[in-house]
Parts: sequence; C-alpha cells; structure tokens
Amino acid sequence: MNTSRAIHSVVGRVATPVSRVSALRCYSALARATMMNRMGGPTTANLAPRTLCATRSQTRSIKTLDFGGTKETVWERADFPREKLQEIFGKDTMTVLGYGPQGRGQSLNMRDNGLKVIIGTRKDGRSWKKAVEDGWQPGKDLFPIEEACDKGTVIMNLLSDAAQSTTWPTVSKYLTPGKTLYFSHGFSVVYKKDTKVIPPKDVDVILCAPKGSGFTVRRLFQDGKGINSSIAVFQDVSGQAQERAQALGIAIGSGYLYKTTFEKEVQSDLVGERGVLMGAIQGLFLAQYEVLRARGHTPSEAFNETVEEGTQSLYPLIGEKGMDWMYSNCSTTAQRGALDWMKPFHDASKPVFEKLYEEVRNGNEARRSIEKNSADNYREELEKELAEINDSEMWRAGRTVRSLRPENQ
Ligand SMILES: NC(=O)c1ccc[n+]([C@@H]2O[C@H](COP(=O)([O-])OP(=O)(O)OC[C@H]3O[C@@H](n4cnc5c(N)ncnc54)[C@H](OP(=O)(O)O)[C@@H]3O)[C@@H](O)[C@H]2O)c1
Repeated sequence: MNTSRAIHSVVGRVATPVSRVSALRCYSALARATMMNRMGGPTTANLAPRTLCATRSQTRSIKTLDFGGTKETVWERADFPREKLQEIFGKDTMTVLGYGPQGRGQSLNMRDNGLKVIIGTRKDGRSWKKAVEDGWQPGKDLFPIEEACDKGTVIMNLLSDAAQSTTWPTVSKYLTPGKTLYFSHGFSVVYKKDTKVIPPKDVDVILCAPKGSGFTVRRLFQDGKGINSSIAVFQDVSGQAQERAQALGIAIGSGYLYKTTFEKEVQSDLVGERGVLMGAIQGLFLAQYEVLRARGHTPSEAFNETVEEGTQSLYPLIGEKGMDWMYSNCSTTAQRGALDWMKPFHDASKPVFEKLYEEVRNGNEARRSIEKNSADNYREELEKELAEINDSEMWRAGRTVRSLRPENQ
C-alpha cells in the first residue's frame, strides 16, 4: 500500500453536511490510518487528524484500490451507514423469496440493518417452518410467495435457481413499474433461453452475489465481519440502480463490494465451484490419496497428509497471510519441493481450466445443470453420485480423523 493510496482512501470530496455520518467516517478513516500504521505499511501518521477530517461535511470519494497492478473501484460499509440505507430504502418493502441459506442470511442481516423485510416462501414447506423458528410471523412478515411479491417493492429472488425458473410465471406478474428485481446469481437471467426468466423492461434489475454460503453471510455479519460480494446492474430504469445495488450489497451484510456483470458473475461462479472451490480440489485430494494408498501408506497417513494438514494448518494460514507468505515460511525442504512442483501441476491443470471456462461460456454447463436437475429421477441419480463420495474410503477415513480431534472428543 503506498501513501497516495492511503490518502486517497481516507480523504474525501466535499458533499452534503451530515454531522454524525461524517464523524463516523472521520473516526473510521483515523482507525484505518492507525491500522495501516500497525500493519507496518507506509503510514498516514504524517496526515494530521485535521487533514483526514478537515470539515464535518466531507464524505469519502469513490474508492479505487490497486489489486496487484489493476485499479478497481470498491464499496464498503463506511459508504452506506444505517442512515444512508434508510435514505435509500426507507420507503421500500424488501421481499425475500426463499429462506434457504442465502434467504435466511440476507434477510436477517437486512432486518438488523433497520430495513423493512418480509419473507415469501411456499406455505408449510421446510423454509416456512425455519422462518417461523427464526421469529418471522405468518401474516405479518411471512407470506406465501405470491402475496409477498404483491406486498414488496424490492423483490429479492433467493429461491433455488431451478425454482426461480418454475415460479417465474407467478413472480413476474408482480413486477410492476418502479419495482426492483434482485438476484444473488446471474444464472436465471443470463441463461434465459433455458430458464425463461426474462425481466420486464420497466423494472431495475440488480445483483449482489456473496462469495460464500448464506450461513457465512449471517455468521460473519454477527461477528462484525463481512463476506465479500460482487454487484451488477442488468437494467437501470430508475437511474439509481447502481447506487441501490451498492447499498443493498452492504445492507445484506457484505464486507467489500466489487463490480461485475451478470454474465461475468455466472461465468466466474460456475468456473470457481467446478474448479478450485470444489471440483478440482476433490479431484486433487483423491488423486494424491489414491497414490499414497497404492504405495502402502495407511488411510490415517494418507488422509492427514492430503486433507487434514491442509484444512487444519496450512489453509487457515494461507487465508490469513497468503500463499506467498506460506512459501516464505515453511521448511526449506517443503519450500524447494513446492517451488519445483508448482509448475508441473500448473501446466497439467491449466488446459482443464481452459476447457472448463469454454464449457461455461458456451452455455453447455448451464444446459447440463438445468437438464440434469429437472429430470424426474434427479433425486435418485444425485443420491447415487453423492453416495459414491460419501462412501469412499478417503472421506470415511476423514470422519474417523475428525472424530479424533480433541475438541470433538
Ligand atoms: N449457496 C451459495 O453458496 C450461494 C452463494 C451465492 C449466491 N447463491 C444464490 O442464491 C440463491 C439462493 O441460494 P440458496 O443456496 O440460499 O438456496 P437454495 O438452497 O438453492 O434454495 C432454497 C429455497 O428455494 C425454495 N424452493 C426450492 N424449490 C422450490 C419450488 N419448486 N417452489 C418454491 N420454492 C422452492 C426452498 O423452499 P423450501 O424449503 O420450501 O423447499 C428454499 O426456500 C440462488 O440463486 C443461488 O445461486 C448461492
């Protein structure tokens, strides 16, 4: 982080006088400056508090940061304090459709952020019961899908991607001019030929896609942290869709927001989950485990060396400090080997990633998902495939290893 970025981050342009907001911003600017100082980066200590908070009427300018050499604009909580969320959504009723992990996490966070939220889910389904357990009251802030769509002005479609398609004829009837349609995944809109989800031309259509499960969206928010999310605008009828997407991204509990498009969000999301977030990692785990087992290592040794050491020791450190730090802070033996073997693994997997990206880009992956997931025997076929993973020696060994963790005794 260089000094000019630090200054850019904390010094704002003149805007409307909002004393408490400004005070909070000044405080967070100072806190950030102090934190940067503690982190050992070039300091802002030479910026006197008066420079940071010269007048009570300052607000922060658009924040552009350097991500490894590329400048990107980001938004954070400091950009949308509660008062500003009220200014933007004070007259709105946020209808959250679905109460799966995302519906639950996002709705509870918005409610805690002071917005008027109602839930729409199918009556007496699993989600309905869960919502009641969480204190949502039928007839007050919990309704069947159709009624919730009628009452809401911002329709947040957090049904499963498949259900977004099947319920579209119902939901779309209530998308009257002036309303906002929101998604957390670009899937339904981007693959409209297959999903038939085609928003009417006279509503704003926006997206905020948290980069993680809805459980984490809620848990991090409760811990005072926040999950990073992407935001996008598909249709801007009001002229305010950009700001509403940014504000809503913060209202649902995000940490920082970065800009994308519906297409790019779907592409990166599908590549990520098929790649290093799940598909590739399970493939790599399995390949290494199989080789170790075939060469006579016990399941305990193969599992610890393949999964447990990573998830319990190395990955949390990589999350905290980065892989670059890990490379500089392991044994010289590990360092030599990891440097030498990085390239063969990279070269072997890159063509697979290229192929994966192309399959996502040309829509084959989406078509395959829709086709497979809407088949009549979908559940039975899926159970068979999942059972193969559940019953594999590697993950059975993993259950035993986890049961031996002292905290699980
Ligand atoms: N999971 C993630 O990590 C993640 C991350 C970012 C974005 N997203 C996106 O967020 C959205 C929601 O995802 P999610 O994981 O929270 O939910 P999900 O588990 O995929 O969907 C759950 C909701 O859909 C409802 N539903 C399913 N079939 C239905 C049908 N035929 N009719 C009416 N309702 C139906 C369920 O109600 P019942 O309980 O009644 O079945 C439940 O409320 C999706 O667009 C997803 O792509 C997910």
